Amino acid sequence: MGLKQVSLQDVIPLRHIVLRPGKGIETCYFEGDESSTTRHFAWIEREHVQSVATVMLSSREIEGVSVPYQLRGMATDPDLAGRGIGSHFLQALHEELDSSWWCNAREVAVRFYERNGLERIGEPFDIPGIGPHYVMVYKKTAGSE
Ligand SMILES: CC(C)(COP(=O)(O)OP(=O)(O)OC[C@H]1O[C@@H](n2cnc3c(N)ncnc32)[C@H](O)[C@@H]1OP(=O)(O)O)[C@@H](O)C(=O)NCCC(=O)NCCS
Repeated sequence: MGLKQVSLQDVIPLRHIVLRPGKGIETCYFEGDESSTTRHFAWIEREHVQSVATVMLSSREIEGVSVPYQLRGMATDPDLAGRGIGSHFLQALHEELDSSWWCNAREVAVRFYERNGLERIGEPFDIPGIGPHYVMVYKKTAGSE
């Protein structure tokens, strides 16, 4: 089936298992999750949510250009990680979103995002309790997918 826009409740289970393991479910909710401009997406096959991500309107100035959207909470079902699902999902999101977007990428995910067309910006920084991150950006240009 592929990319689908879903509800907040649909993305919470994978956020919890993958991104906040062992932590309370309340830690899985982000500021802005319920905003009318926030969209939650999933990669779904045979009604199984295989990967999730959330796109929020959260403008950030990068190299003098305003990048409107932030990707947050990307997580693939651990039983299915490393099989290309996240890459298919991101390519579909590139097509779905009409603009450039940025994210705070965990160090372990930097190569994954680079392979999918994002650029790393600047020096690493620490998110307490989670670890080192890099700002990364996907620059949507005319003709890019
Ligand atoms: C990063 C993630 C979303 C990629 O989804 P995926 O379906 O595994 O993606 P793909 O199979 O297309 O690509 C796998 C890549 O992700 C990397 N990766 C990061 N964490 C991984 C994990 N726990 N298991 C497997 N691969 C992982 C692999 O190194 C691989 O990169 P490489 O091919 O350059 O070595 C997924 O692995 C995941 O949920 N990881 C843990 C949570 C996380 O780090 N999320 C990103 C927050 S910024």
